[in-house]
Amino acid sequence: MADKETGDIAERICELKKEQDAVILAHYYVQDSAQDVADYIGDSFYLSRLAAGLECRTLVFAGVRFMAESAKLLSPEKTVLMPEPRADCPMAHMVRKETVDKARETYGDDLAVACYVNSTTEMKAWSDVCVTSSNAVKIVSRLPQHHVLFIPDMNLGRYVAEQVPDKHIILNDGFCPTHEAIELSEIEDLMVRYPEAVVCAHPECTPWVLEKAGYVGSTSGIIRRVEEGTETDYIIATVYGVSHRINEGIAGSGKRIHFPKTTPICPNMHMVTGEKILSCLENHTGEIDVDEACTAGARRALQRMLELAKD
Ligand code: 13P
Ligand code: SF4
Repeated sequence: MADKETGDIAERICELKKEQDAVILAHYYVQDSAQDVADYIGDSFYLSRLAAGLECRTLVFAGVRFMAESAKLLSPEKTVLMPEPRADCPMAHMVRKETVDKARETYGDDLAVACYVNSTTEMKAWSDVCVTSSNAVKIVSRLPQHHVLFIPDMNLGRYVAEQVPDKHIILNDGFCPTHEAIELSEIEDLMVRYPEAVVCAHPECTPWVLEKAGYVGSTSGIIRRVEEGTETDYIIATVYGVSHRINEGIAGSGKRIHFPKTTPICPNMHMVTGEKILSCLENHTGEIDVDEACTAGARRALQRMLELAKD
């Protein structure tokens, strides 16, 4: 987008936000043009906590469907708009009810179902508690049950199991196609080129990529690690969208970030642009609603996450 055009879009969005008492939330993976017009940018946990507490009539969620649905569940009185309603997270669908039923049957009351927020409202309703990448270790370690079925992401689940060895974690076979596609060989190539670099990886990466990481954390954790780090070079194993914020934060510091040769892009997040934010505010499109039958259970699991995540 040309600068003039970008400025016009931002100005028009500002007017519409005032008229509609709207706040724009964006995830770090959406396109730069969407991040640039957002009121708040963050990781999944930060955004869901915000959504629960903000005082406004309308939330525009620049992200994928599970994020907008979580906002609606935590703030049912608000109108929640998705600038790109087709943006969905494939991993959010990767668990079957039979898996949950079987685990409950096997372990009874000593089982908790921990559901990554990257999941449908229905899956959240099957679960006892939600987690995000930034609080999964803390929450799982605080659960009273010994057995924990972790859905849907096997990579985050395996990482949590390593960090909380006293729990018995049962894994499901879901995964994020974008993080799963980050090749170990491309990370190793970067490690050879930048031997002093620290590898910063999202826990959705494969275990062999995580093995190389000096830091594992959520998107905001990775951004903070680079901003606060004393190293010059950082190898980033997550979606390229985080580079926008990192580059702003490290401008003039001499620090450098390096992504794998095959740039990790989440095709769903990538559909979300500044222009689509403008269009949804102008035309009041993309309003989302949640499946009534699952609302109470899903909200309970999200609220339990907010409770257990408190220090
Ligand atoms: P974060 O909670 O770390 O922002 O992750 C969200 C996500 O979808 C990662 O792929
Ligand atoms: Fe889902 Fe992966 Fe995209 Fe995150 S990066 S929204 S987990 S597909």
